Amino acid sequence: MHVLVTGGAGYIGSHTCLHLLQSGMDVTVIDNFCNSSPEALNRVQALSGRSLHAVQGDVRDAALLDQVFQRGQAIDAVIHFAGLKAVGESVAEPTRYYDNNVAGSLSVIQAMDRASVSTLIFSSTATVYGDPSSEDLPLRETAPCGFTLSPYATSKWMVERCLADLQLAQPHWRIACLRYFNPVGAHHSGRIGENPRGIPNNLVPYISQVALGMREKVSVYGNDYATPDGTGVRDYIHVMDLAEGHGATLEYLGKQPQGTLLTLNLGTGQGASVLDVINTFSAACGRPIPFQVVARRPGDVPVLCADATLANQLLNWQATRSLSQMCHDSWHWQTHNPQGYDT
Ligand code: NAD
Ligand code: WQD
Repeated sequence: MHVLVTGGAGYIGSHTCLHLLQSGMDVTVIDNFCNSSPEALNRVQALSGRSLHAVQGDVRDAALLDQVFQRGQAIDAVIHFAGLKAVGESVAEPTRYYDNNVAGSLSVIQAMDRASVSTLIFSSTATVYGDPSSEDLPLRETAPCGFTLSPYATSKWMVERCLADLQLAQPHWRIACLRYFNPVGAHHSGRIGENPRGIPNNLVPYISQVALGMREKVSVYGNDYATPDGTGVRDYIHVMDLAEGHGATLEYLGKQPQGTLLTLNLGTGQGASVLDVINTFSAACGRPIPFQVVARRPGDVPVLCADATLANQLLNWQATRSLSQMCHDSWHWQTHNPQGYDT
């Protein structure tokens, strides 16, 4: 099987490329490296002992996509990771986010149509659930969606809606929208991992930099939520579990000759609070993590936690790596690559 991976040099994309190569699949990547480094792909190839074909370019470049689809061995499926993902930035620059995430996805879908490729995995997000009511937790895929809190989340929801309409109009399409919860961790080798530019927005990359002494302390955004310890609860999932979830989804889609539209949560089903993560990371790295409770971060919700039963049942896949493993692997990556791929 030959898979085109858009955004394959990014955090989740690079781990997924490694898993696909190790599973014997052939991989072509298109990435404009706006939030990643070609070095990630060098390391993926070194780790797997296999080569992939990398194209530098933008998914909104229709002519380039046509070239990619026409070149060499036919492409069987597309995993579309390419997109912008910073929630706060999307509030400040909504049109840039809609252009990249919505127009970019339409460009990929239309190029697939021209090339008669109709198997697609789309990277969606738990933020499509907005601020869920407590009776909807843990979240099943049927929980209300679309009352989104940021242009980022709206952009993902718009593409999900577009894909549902496409599958209705052209039922032979095999589409999976995967709603990721909070991906963290890194490949156990410490060779690939998350490479945030500037000050990290997300909790685990920030904690990693505090542990390394690059930053003074973690700001805990609020301890007055209606959660067991008052801090926000999330469903953290190891990035390699997520990568394997993509492999399992490709296998599932391949067995659906009639076409299908699948919408799945990829999470562990276990919630962890901000303080749980700080304590687990501290145990993993063997040093205290200084923190201070500050005001809530605008746009945060108290709890986002998946019911992952459907993915477990349909894909025969389950997240197996613990929060402790996620923290160990993040720390391993961080200590070996303090400046990410620029180290
Ligand atoms: P990332 O930024 O590390 O990777 C995205 C990749 O896409 C980068 O390599 C970037 O250079 C590339 N890219 C962006 N726009 C492009 C364009 N127009 N053309 C070509 N390449 C482009 O992000 P990630 O964490 O790996 O996320 C991958 C996908 O999963 C994104 O769509 C993101 O929205 C989604 N997602 C991420 C998370 C998360 O917390 N990391 C959670 C839910 C969903
Ligand atoms: C986790 C918890 C914060 C940083 C985001 C996106 C989401 C998805 C994953 C793309 C929350 C708290 C954080 C800090 C803190 N990405 N926190 N201090 O906000 O759940 O999800 O990343 O799709 O779309 O919204 O992740 O890691 O930023 O926060 O206290 O310095 O940690 O309040 O409770 P979030 P996060």
